[in-house]
Amino acid sequence: MKKTVPLKRGQLCLPLFKFLVVMKLAIVLILVSAVQLYAGVYGQKITVQAQQTEIKKILTKIEKTTDVRFLYNYDLAPLNKKIDFTVNNIDLPAALNQLFASTSLQYRILNDNLVVVMAGDNAAAYQPAEIQERKDKLYNQQPLLKINRLSTWFPVNSGFFSRSKVFVKAVNEVSFDVYPGETLGLAGESGCGKTTLGRSILRLIEPTSGSIEFGGTNLRGLGKKDLRDIRKDIQIIFQDPYSSLNPRLTVGDSLMEPLQVHQFYANHTRRKKKVLELLERVNLLPEHFNRYPHEFSGGQRQRIVIARALALQPKFIICDESVSALDVSVQAQVLNLIRELQQELNLTYIFISHDLAVIKHISDRMMIMNKGEIVEMGDPDEIYYHPKEEYTKKLIASIPGN
Ligand SMILES: Nc1ncnc2c1ncn2[C@@H]1O[C@H](COP(=O)(O)OP(=O)(O)O)[C@@H](O)[C@H]1O
Ligand SMILES: [Mg+2]
Repeated sequence: MKKTVPLKRGQLCLPLFKFLVVMKLAIVLILVSAVQLYAGVYGQKITVQAQQTEIKKILTKIEKTTDVRFLYNYDLAPLNKKIDFTVNNIDLPAALNQLFASTSLQYRILNDNLVVVMAGDNAAAYQPAEIQERKDKLYNQQPLLKINRLSTWFPVNSGFFSRSKVFVKAVNEVSFDVYPGETLGLAGESGCGKTTLGRSILRLIEPTSGSIEFGGTNLRGLGKKDLRDIRKDIQIIFQDPYSSLNPRLTVGDSLMEPLQVHQFYANHTRRKKKVLELLERVNLLPEHFNRYPHEFSGGQRQRIVIARALALQPKFIICDESVSALDVSVQAQVLNLIRELQQELNLTYIFISHDLAVIKHISDRMMIMNKGEIVEMGDPDEIYYHPKEEYTKKLIASIPGN
């Protein structure tokens, strides 16, 4: 018969103790890896703290540490509140809700991580007082540009033996006005005639028929010299800043050139001073004067092109897909710059883009173009939320996130 040995004190306690220690370690390990997994999956968290500061400063801090970018269509008032804001890239809407809950502002996420900050509900969401005031001012003026039944047709080769002439009606019987200080957006899918319309206004492409009246002058009646003179007042900024800058000229020389050609300012020293001011205005540095275009990023090059367009103090700028080639984050910076310049210099813009979301954001009024014709025109929000035309509905539906 087996003798049962009674357990001594502590004999049972030791395995139990070991077991508990192992369990504790396991729990700690599980917790640590869960936190790591969370951080890995959801991205790094960034906390921004600010007190008695402007909300814009907070947003700028967020821009520096994440790939979120903000566009402002409202002057951001100082915020006398303590903000403790955590950005989590995955849950951006929740993070923004948390931030904007303590302000009277609203935001809208445009594309992925491009955020528009605007006047809040208190100022009426779609018709803030500021916007109404701006509209009253803009549309009580005489138009700066009047386009009447403008057409630009391109002949196409219809075969050697064919007698009938065939045309691509790139722009067909288009009429609209642009008011001083306004941004008129022009949207439509690729190939609908936007660029042809923009270039036809400047007669860089000769229109087939119709009239273009700028500041009371009929541009279609002008000779070469007068046309060259009036082109000082109307500038055009294209999509690809690299091809519109001469790679062999330094940035300084590129900006000096139009000033020399048009004999702006008395001498080289004054012209250089002016160019340095222009560089500063578009947030570039004096040392950039002696650098070549290839030494810059896409966004910087587009800012150089904007500075060059501003050199001759134009009244009117046609921006043709000016931000389309840029990263979303850089787009926001350039769009903000374009808007600031308008307020400062009372510029008038036609802003062309295939990206309806961008057009809607930047425009006072917008036009939708299809197959050479304007199919819809009016208030951007009205068109965006209540499109009348099938074509516009499709265009809106094709915006990512809609
Ligand atoms: N120089 C040209 N010769 C013939 N057809 C042209 C010329 N330029 C543009 N087109 C045609 O005119 C239409 C409108 O082009 P475009 O104005 O570049 O459109 P968008 O800028 O909206 O993309 C297209 O069908 C295009 O092929
Ligand atoms: Mg185009």
